[in-house]
Amino acid sequence: MIPVCRLDDLPAGASARLDTTPPIAVFNADGALYAIDDTCSHQDASLSEGWLEGCQIECPLHAASFDLRTGEPTCLPARRPVRTHRVSVVEGMVHVHVTDAPSIPAEAGAAAGEGSAA
Ligand code: FES
Repeated sequence: MIPVCRLDDLPAGASARLDTTPPIAVFNADGALYAIDDTCSHQDASLSEGWLEGCQIECPLHAASFDLRTGEPTCLPARRPVRTHRVSVVEGMVHVHVTDAPSIPAEAGAAAGEGSAA
């Protein structure tokens, strides 16, 4: 269980990034807290710097979106999910419970620019 910040410091629409390995992004989606791996499964963009709308986070680099509840991509160019992590609030402090599942590598070919928006 990793402490993130005080709940008061993560208002609705805000995100926080944990410098874990791999990094984890925590979001307050209209009062519901979610945590996912911060690195987009398409390339290396930080999802905590993306645009949050409802339970969707849009990647700031090529605009793939992910469902924060499942980690599944909801549009291209991302094809692979990102891991999700459980979030809890204990005495006003937000915590992330890192999943035991292995992290998902970026898509093959993505580093060479395959599938990137021009
Ligand atoms: S890096 Fe996220 S969509 Fe390309």
